[in-house]
Amino acid sequence: MKAHISAVAHYVPPDVFDNNWFASFLDTSDQWIRERTGIIERRFLRKGATSDMIVPAARAVLEQRGLSPAEIDCIIVCTVTPDQFFPSTAANVQRKLGASNAWGFDLNAACSGFVYGLWVAAKLVEAGGARNVLLCGADKMSSIINFEDRATCVLFGDGAGVVLLEPTDDDSVGVLDAIIRMDGEGGRYLYMPAGGSLRPPSLETVANKEHYVHQDGQTVFKAAVVGMADVSAAIMERNGLQPDDVAWLVPHQANLRIIDATRRRMGLPEEKVAINIDRYGNTTAATIPICLSELYRDGKLRRGDNLILASFGAGYTWGSLWLRWSLQGTPE
Ligand code: UT7
Repeated sequence: MKAHISAVAHYVPPDVFDNNWFASFLDTSDQWIRERTGIIERRFLRKGATSDMIVPAARAVLEQRGLSPAEIDCIIVCTVTPDQFFPSTAANVQRKLGASNAWGFDLNAACSGFVYGLWVAAKLVEAGGARNVLLCGADKMSSIINFEDRATCVLFGDGAGVVLLEPTDDDSVGVLDAIIRMDGEGGRYLYMPAGGSLRPPSLETVANKEHYVHQDGQTVFKAAVVGMADVSAAIMERNGLQPDDVAWLVPHQANLRIIDATRRRMGLPEEKVAINIDRYGNTTAATIPICLSELYRDGKLRRGDNLILASFGAGYTWGSLWLRWSLQGTPE
């Protein structure tokens, strides 16, 4: 038995902020941001929490699949911007949806959250530990970025993507393989310094702006280019997949140059790469499920298509997952 994605939807906030908006109060420019990252605009959620972006996407998933909230068995929320430390955002989603029979938890693997979560959820379903899993990748990055730090604040956006994982008797489709990695030595290059048990919040941590994303961009860039490309090439090789066999690379959207390096290592043409970084920036755990949702909505996925999902993020965490698409047509 395999686990397959039986529905997918996303939510992005309505409020759009383009590069020129940043240039109006920071020493930056539309040209710099476009050329170095590929980002043109992003969405920020003005009011509400991460769960408030998940809930509309989750409702759309249930509608697509014709299920009621009470039929959800397990909710996993991949995020680095939970509504609060605890209870989990999964618990908040459960309450807001009225998913009265669901258990669940949050998973923190930063930008690799969705790839990690998809592997965990697929294995849970395959093993019979859950009848279905509502897997959510969502982040409200605007809540943890320092709008005075031009090197990080222009990179991120807010959004949510949700999929439903269910068992299928057809072993040729669904989540087929993954190569997942972690290297804690990378922790010091992309992190939030304070707020946890190591450095609890204090007047000092607030004054020092330690509750925001801190990133050594160049170091992370170099690691990401190598890491994401390595696992993506390795998963193709391990499964005997040639470039012609792959319908889509669905990569984490942190930087167009990182995506391009991965694509080239895989031997794929540009048309086979899912891109939305230009419109949403880096939405952390939401980038990949938003891409999947848009591809499906736009009729670009066919049953039997081989997809390679790939990510790199804080931890470091990174990974690549081979998924064979199982749905026919577009969402109702
Ligand atoms: O998703 C999680 C994982 N994260 C990533 O994968 C992000 C990886 N890193 C990156 O994508 C890139 O390193 C960045 C986009 C963050 C930066 O691009 P870069 O080409 O590595 O630039 P840099 O950090 O080497 O900075 C080059 C110059 C610097 O000025 P000097 O020292 O050369 O005078 C920066 O101060 O660009 C300057 N700079 C900016 N200039 C205008 C940095 N940010 C900006 C900005 N606008 N927003």
